[in-house]
Amino acid sequence: MNPPLVGKVGASHPHPDGHAPLCLANAQLVLTDQVLTGRIIVQAGVVTDILEGDDVPPGAIDCRGDYVLPGLIELHTDNLERHIEPRPEVNWPHLPALVAHDAELASTGITTVFDALRVGSIHNNKARYKAYARDLATELLAARDAGYFRISHFLHLRAETCSDTLLEEMAEFGPEDRVGIVSLMDHTPGQRQFRDLHALKTYVAKKRGLSDADFDEHVANLKRLQRLYGAKHQAGAVAEANRYGATLASHDDTTAEQVETSQKLGAHFAEFPTTYEAALACRASGLAVMMGAPNIIRGMSHSGNVSAMELAKEGLLDIVSSDYVPSALLLSAFRLSDVWNDLPRAVSCVTANPAMAVGLTDRGRLALGLRGDVLRVTLAGDAPLIRGVWSQGHRVS
Ligand SMILES: [Fe+2]
Repeated sequence: MNPPLVGKVGASHPHPDGHAPLCLANAQLVLTDQVLTGRIIVQAGVVTDILEGDDVPPGAIDCRGDYVLPGLIELHTDNLERHIEPRPEVNWPHLPALVAHDAELASTGITTVFDALRVGSIHNNKARYKAYARDLATELLAARDAGYFRISHFLHLRAETCSDTLLEEMAEFGPEDRVGIVSLMDHTPGQRQFRDLHALKTYVAKKRGLSDADFDEHVANLKRLQRLYGAKHQAGAVAEANRYGATLASHDDTTAEQVETSQKLGAHFAEFPTTYEAALACRASGLAVMMGAPNIIRGMSHSGNVSAMELAKEGLLDIVSSDYVPSALLLSAFRLSDVWNDLPRAVSCVTANPAMAVGLTDRGRLALGLRGDVLRVTLAGDAPLIRGVWSQGHRVS
């Protein structure tokens, strides 16, 4: 049973580490079904009071009518890669990269992140997709256990079925890693995300500095890998996800048939379906639809696929992911709110809905007994600006 949204729980008690309770008062609290003028109190890391009214008790922070939202939940960020390899072939020391990535996300209002790491590498390839996930995951989990992060981190393994080494890389992970998400990816050129080969060439050749001949060789090699391993890797990745206890996600589904397959394999949500047809099929199959925030902000996909805003207008959008621009997540929620004229619904796409998709029941809403992950947001024109971010009641940005 869900806890009540508004009220008070238990008696006031000091934080075990001596941290004073957090009280954000005179705020517009964005609940799941309404925006309420009131105050929220976090003690010992959890929300203990949500009270209506504009009064500001002694010791409280006067939010002066700013919005207070649940901390944002990001299921698929590629942002870590940018810190690990800031330029092609420039490998940054991992711990400083991890900590900088964590601080960047905190500054954008993200308080829970699933860091996407690719598993599945390619031998003898010019695009240089080498194995890195296991080592980086070990370092990430050690940093998390050491308390170096401001926000809550989980692993998301992006399983590239079109690769040489998927299953051997996945075998190196287990239930003890608490992998949160496994997404099934097939980036074979000429289909799904890269139906448009020209878009692929712009993306890969530029990023990896490939000549025309190198690019053609890369494409031929990927097609060969799909023929050799596609089906075996897909089945193997699903088995590994089940072994870890991870939530399964599909990726770049393009046809209703692909969505049906994803559902049969046990996917809970669909990352970036590339067509209206696929998004509609997700709705019919009970898969939540996740789209990229940059797509919402730009009004189009960088790969030439369906517009996320068009899906939103059709009621076919459930979850937004910042993908490769962390700060896009909050902005996209306010853009969606403009379209829907419904801020709670828009904010749910970056909080409650992603939490539900991965089974996180302790966060994603401003509600009694849940984690005190909150952010204070003001509007500068139509741009949301972050005034403060708290994780379990501790200020992290
Ligand atoms: Fe993709």
